[in-house]
Amino acid sequence: MAKPLGYSRQQIWLHWGIAVLILFQIVFGESMAEAWDAFTETGATQMTLLVWGHIIAGVAVLLFALWRLYLRAARGVPAPIAGQPRLQVVAGEAVHWIFYAIMIGAPLTGMAAWYGGVLQAGEVHGTVKPVIVALLAVHVLAALYHQVIKKDGLLLRMWRAQG
Ligand code: HEM
Ligand code: HEM
Repeated sequence: MAKPLGYSRQQIWLHWGIAVLILFQIVFGESMAEAWDAFTETGATQMTLLVWGHIIAGVAVLLFALWRLYLRAARGVPAPIAGQPRLQVVAGEAVHWIFYAIMIGAPLTGMAAWYGGVLQAGEVHGTVKPVIVALLAVHVLAALYHQVIKKDGLLLRMWRAQG
């Protein structure tokens, strides 16, 4: 299958929509952690607005990520920007795939803990925040490096749809 020239409008909306939802999870995740502590200590379930928000945003990330994977398979993604060292291309792709693992693994471990009462899944889920923050730092710095230093228009690829 020939690679498309750029990302489609749907792929771009899904990318930024998921980014906003994940940011919400990072900023307000503490409320879910508090509700989880209360549940494991007393068995009481506190369904506050932020707890509902965490569950709905998390499940949305899972569904949107699956949709994105479908689009990757059905339509494809553009080839890496030409002229980059091989290692840089591999590192960029590795970060993208680890992000996919998180977009799917985080909601699944969260649900296994919350709905299935699997304590170990809760422990794994509780470590997701620093991993996302570190990956995001690398991802954003790489995008800015391309945009500001290399001036190869990488950021625009995730902004303007192309066939
Ligand atoms: C992309 C999806 C998700 C992300 C990025 C995410 C992220 C987070 C973060 C950052 C925390 C706070 C951790 C802390 O400060 O200790 C947290 C806690 C928690 N989340 Fe999620 N979450 C997601 C989806 C879900 C879903 C769908 C559920 C369940 C329905 C869920 C259930 C929980 C539970 C039970 C905790 C408390 C666990 C603990 O603190 O060990 N999460 N989540
Ligand atoms: C948690 C938030 C984010 C996640 C999970 C994420 C994930 C991804 C993934 C998986 C890709 C690969 C393309 C695809 O499969 O659709 C990608 C591409 C991209 N992301 Fe993000 N991203 C996030 C936030 C950001 C932010 C804040 C920026 C802005 C600086 C950004 C800029 C880009 C760019 C420019 C590309 C295109 C790279 C290329 O074409 O090689 N992302 N992102």
